[in-house]
Amino acid sequence: MVTFGCFPSESHTDTQFKPAGVLKRFSMTSGKVDDEPSTWDKYGVKLVSALCVTLLGIGLILIIVFETQRAGPAPKPWQQFRLPDTLTPIHYDVEVRPDLTTFVLTGRVDISVRCATPTSYVILHSSDQEIDRNSAPTVQGSDGQKTPSVTSWFLFPENEFLVLELSEDLREGEVYTITVYFRGAVRAALNGFYRSSYVNEQGQTRYLGITDFQPQDARKAYPCFDEPAFKATFNVTVVHQQEYTALSNMPLESTESRGGGWVADRFQKMVRMPTYLLAFGVSDFVSINSTTSTGIATKIWARPEYIAAGMGDYGLDVANRVVAYFEDYFGVPFPLPKIDHIALPDFNSGAMENWGLITYRETRLLYDTNSPSATVRKATARIIAHELAHMWFGNLVTMEWWDGTWLNEGFASYIQYKGLDFAEPQMNVMEHFAYDRSQSVMVDDSLTSSNPVYRPVTTADDVTQIFGSIIYSKGASILRMLENFIGEETFKKALKTYLSKNAYGNAVQDQLWAELTTAAREDGQTDLDVKAVMDTWTLQMGYPVVTMTRDYTRGTAEVTQQHFLVDSASTVVVTSELGYRWYVPLTYLTQANLANTPVQTWMAPNEGSKVITIQGASANEFVLTNINHAGYYRVNYDPTNWQLLADHLNGDNFEDIPADNRGTLVDDAFNLARAGMLDLTTALSMTQYLVKERHFIPWSMALRATSYIERVVGSVPDISDLWEQYMRQQISPFYEEVGWTLLQGDYNTEVGQVVAISNACGYGNGRCVNNATMMFDLWINTNNNSHIPERLKSTVYCTAIKHGGRPEWDFAWQQYLTASASEQNRLLSAMACTRDTDTLNTYLERSRDDSLVRRQSAPLVVESVGRNSVGKSLAWSFLRDNWDFYFDNYDGTSFTMTGIVEDVTRQFSTQADLDELETFLATHPNQGTATQAFSQAVENTQANIRWRRDNEDKLRAWLQAQR
Ligand SMILES: *[C@@H]1O[C@H](CO)[C@@H](O)[C@H](O)[C@H]1NC(C)=O
Ligand SMILES: *[C@@H]1O[C@H](CO)[C@@H](O)[C@H](O)[C@H]1NC(C)=O
Ligand SMILES: *[C@@H]1O[C@H](CO)[C@@H](O)[C@H](O)[C@H]1NC(C)=O
Ligand SMILES: *[C@@H]1O[C@H](CO)[C@@H](O)[C@H](O)[C@H]1NC(C)=O
Ligand SMILES: [Zn+2]
Repeated sequence: MVTFGCFPSESHTDTQFKPAGVLKRFSMTSGKVDDEPSTWDKYGVKLVSALCVTLLGIGLILIIVFETQRAGPAPKPWQQFRLPDTLTPIHYDVEVRPDLTTFVLTGRVDISVRCATPTSYVILHSSDQEIDRNSAPTVQGSDGQKTPSVTSWFLFPENEFLVLELSEDLREGEVYTITVYFRGAVRAALNGFYRSSYVNEQGQTRYLGITDFQPQDARKAYPCFDEPAFKATFNVTVVHQQEYTALSNMPLESTESRGGGWVADRFQKMVRMPTYLLAFGVSDFVSINSTTSTGIATKIWARPEYIAAGMGDYGLDVANRVVAYFEDYFGVPFPLPKIDHIALPDFNSGAMENWGLITYRETRLLYDTNSPSATVRKATARIIAHELAHMWFGNLVTMEWWDGTWLNEGFASYIQYKGLDFAEPQMNVMEHFAYDRSQSVMVDDSLTSSNPVYRPVTTADDVTQIFGSIIYSKGASILRMLENFIGEETFKKALKTYLSKNAYGNAVQDQLWAELTTAAREDGQTDLDVKAVMDTWTLQMGYPVVTMTRDYTRGTAEVTQQHFLVDSASTVVVTSELGYRWYVPLTYLTQANLANTPVQTWMAPNEGSKVITIQGASANEFVLTNINHAGYYRVNYDPTNWQLLADHLNGDNFEDIPADNRGTLVDDAFNLARAGMLDLTTALSMTQYLVKERHFIPWSMALRATSYIERVVGSVPDISDLWEQYMRQQISPFYEEVGWTLLQGDYNTEVGQVVAISNACGYGNGRCVNNATMMFDLWINTNNNSHIPERLKSTVYCTAIKHGGRPEWDFAWQQYLTASASEQNRLLSAMACTRDTDTLNTYLERSRDDSLVRRQSAPLVVESVGRNSVGKSLAWSFLRDNWDFYFDNYDGTSFTMTGIVEDVTRQFSTQADLDELETFLATHPNQGTATQAFSQAVENTQANIRWRRDNEDKLRAWLQAQR
């Protein structure tokens, strides 16, 4: 799956979907689908479900009484969160009948199970479903066997179980068939089997139904043993209204009429897989197709007008080529005859890797060649490669339990770069990795509130909370580091063995480490213990900073490691058995040998400090470490080496340091300075060379690294003016060179131009601002914005509104009211760029009115105003005064409350800010899902106050000296 967290930089702009505003819940008693308000809290759900259970019948009440009386100290098997291992599912025969008129989903499932341990209970998952009382669940033995009868059955909503109680024990080794008839909703919430809709070219609303199960929602569509290790084969039949087409994991086997305009599509038998990868859908979408060189049929499905407009063509080409590439890379053929990729108007995450039927949000799969954009092309190819990588990592071999999710997601997030690089070789995407994946997660992972990639999972909430940037981006980063130290061929060889050995089964990370160790030993790395190394990276949070202190006369360097914490005043409360020390594969090159293969040396956790001899570095030449940022750690140097590096960057040959390393130098320096481990002026001196930099990777990394300064002193007028002036000076030469005429060429050229223009305008380059303003005025005068290139729209809008007055803002507002979804998002962000406080207040007020700003977009308004240095206190006052409104309308619906609180308090850096926060918290003891965001806000504000106390004067003096 690709979540929002997977692409943090894009999550604010991509809100074309509708989040689950209304929960549809199936009433057990009336058999009707009821709308419930979105504010249903968990307790309420449980209460009502419990009520439903009690209404199921007198037999059930008797059971409860009986069970209560009998209740001894041992908990009942259904009181455990995990399924018992008494029964092993072998095969599911699922028939579902989704009605897209009444939004009812009925169905039947026959599950063959083998009894592993005698038991008189059958326990499986079922949630938000009614079990038909007239055709109660049955258990049937194989031919001729006497079968125990189902004496009673009940739902246990707390663990989302359906429990059947039997007259006697099932016998060990025997196979039984469990049959359950069920009835539920074609849900409005975007999980289980849910509905989505779009308006077609004839102006009609068309519905479709689709599944989204990972991690715990298969049970909302069909009763099943919904844990990843219970793999089974599946026969799926979808009975649907004739006007729609049905899809599932496998190709269609046969179709028969069921009368009354209904048909039954039966799909071929699906290979062994976990329940969460099952998929089926009904829609009136159309497709385009192609076939891989290895004979796998690839199709892209979308609304007819999108397919007709060619918006699936790019994805089809990428999907078709990348699957064949992965078959070759993994050395394991793709086992299914086809893969469908479907673009959905409503989808909860970015995409989901259902085996053979991959689901996507429309904006992620489709690519409009009429508004070409290299970044969108990259995002499309990347997500397709991510989901295709899961076909092996996750689908063929699945984690034993959700605690191992990091391995699936980390792998897909790393291996996707290989697929992407194959599909778009000229993008040079491996060079983007540090910026895309490591840089931002390293900030999260330097807080004491971070988590290890491997985390025990013991509750349903644990399962949902595991899908975050740590498992995706840190997971990917440490696997890249692993490939780097073990070698590409050895890595590939071990993957092939791991995938072949565990095909159609489950595995834990230690099994992969064992294959890698074996392969490494075969290939000559005789003393490498991959598990020992990787445990230090997976079982504890955080990462080290390596400090390298050179001895310039001896030609040696002393290296030490310590846990890097961005706020040096914070204390780690969670202890680690590994003591927050790591096996660090330290790589380095010397100035004279930059073109060589990096030298690698290991730092072991138990080595206090280590002296290495640096070959070929004279005293006036620098040493560069962590080549290509392939290692997940930071590096600090002695002041002389920092100076040598800065001098080289300022010289003519700066480009012989790789682009990703140029970005890392700035990033490490600023984070070290923030942690008090490096003088701020040293960090600042690493940015002077940017005036010559023309590559978007170091620029983007530097801008992200220095954004901290802007947040903390953004509202201190004299410093923020000095800073703006300095950054303007740095970016302007790049801007003057690229201009506004769209440059064609490679990815670097195209994205570089956008970075140059948006920052030149952002830092107030007069010519840039004029040009943007004129473009915007032309839009006002002609009521036509086709002269503004798609990829520059955000910059043009924000710049014109920031430097314009009320007329520009009012025009943007009018446009917003009738714009398409993606244009609306652009305008919503841009309108927050104004520096007029009255306008900002008007804007905040309007965002409360959901006839003007859709509810799902209101947080974007508050967040954007909060990020504007002029809007900082306005957004806070607004949030404070409207807390109840937001709490009632947003809390618990998704993570929007967290986002609002983070963005609104991000710039807090004074004692007055801290007092505001503390007063608020004292008067609002319940902060719901924003609890952690608030405690982080307090911590951050304190850190920011300290930072200003220690650094503000230094920063001012340094900036003044640059003028
Ligand atoms: C599943 O479908 C296959 C055909 O695709 C059929 O041969 C098999 O008998 C079915 N299995 C069950 C248990 O229905
Ligand atoms: C593939 O697309 C072509 C049109 O380009 C169509 O004629 C053909 O029927 C399609 N094949 C399948 C298997 O859908
Ligand atoms: C913006 O600048 C480009 C040159 O870089 C120029 O061709 C274009 O006409 C300018 N646009 C406007 C509206 O001034
Ligand atoms: C906008 O202008 C372009 C040419 O500059 C033209 O092709 C297009 O039809 C215009 N759109 C509208 C809605 O007038
Ligand atoms: Zn994924």
